[in-house]
Amino acid sequence: MDFEHVLVVGAGQMGGGIAQVVAGSGRRVSLYDAAPGAVEHGVETMRRSLGRLAEKGGPDPEDVLSHVHPVDDLVPADLMIEAVIEDSSVKEDVFRRADETLPPDAVLASNTSSIPISTLAAATNRPDRVIGMHFFNPVPMMSLVEVVRGNETSDETAEAITELARDLGKTPAVANDFPGFVSNRILMPFINEAVWALHEGVAEPEAIDTIAKLGFAHPMGPLALADLIGLDTCVAIMEVLRDGLGDERYEPCPLLREHVAAGRLGRKSGAGFYSYD
Ligand code: 3HC
Repeated sequence: MDFEHVLVVGAGQMGGGIAQVVAGSGRRVSLYDAAPGAVEHGVETMRRSLGRLAEKGGPDPEDVLSHVHPVDDLVPADLMIEAVIEDSSVKEDVFRRADETLPPDAVLASNTSSIPISTLAAATNRPDRVIGMHFFNPVPMMSLVEVVRGNETSDETAEAITELARDLGKTPAVANDFPGFVSNRILMPFINEAVWALHEGVAEPEAIDTIAKLGFAHPMGPLALADLIGLDTCVAIMEVLRDGLGDERYEPCPLLREHVAAGRLGRKSGAGFYSYD
């Protein structure tokens, strides 16, 4: 499976980054987003990112962007990578429609951070060809792809997607289908605990992040990272962990919920634990 034509659904920070990386491998990308203007915004973000990479010897931005084709609905392709909001019913609807639109031998992948792959597979008639392909933000900079096998994902599909991740210049690591997989089962409780430390007045945000950065050699502190991921996404993932693993210790910290309720979603809204221009 060469996946010469890839349909990316969702042109936000993850979908745009995925489209950029797939286009950079020379594959044809069809980019779809239901929100008006989202694809154009995604392409502009890609242009800026590619411009930064070109300064360091990366490919010509316009060459890469020539592989990206905006589309106004789902289209047939060899592979779909879905990267819409972290809401199971929205994702299930995309998978249902993709199953009707893409040829029967196409693979349907999700960039979900935490929603079980088997739930998405159940919305299709090809559960053996449904898989998780979980990228990390910012996609052009982060080398990991967490490949998540649903209960019915075939060996052939898992091998093809693992090979594709390598061909995109990423390092694949395979996980089984548990809530939050491996990455977010580790990361989100860490972030949530940092928010509790702030909520209880243990330290100021800058001190919490400095302690994690310098104390554990993380590139960013957990509060800055939460702002990068999006606080709404953090809440959604914590809820999947809490409900899926049946354990109240995964309940999102009230301060996280307060920020989301106030529209302080992190970098994408201009403010979260920190303010952004
Ligand atoms: N495109 C192109 N280049 C980029 C970029 C992008 N999107 N983002 C950063 N860069 C480049 C910058 O231009 C800069 O280049 P330079 O060194 O030549 O000047 C370089 O990367 C470093 O960027 P900055 O100087 O702005 O800042 P940092 O050194 O802090 O690097 C970072 C930024 C790469 C984001 C780094 O802080 C980092 O790796 N942070 C951790 C990110 C992380 O943990 N991501 C995972 C989130 S979890 C997730 O996504 C899963 C989901 O399910 C929740």
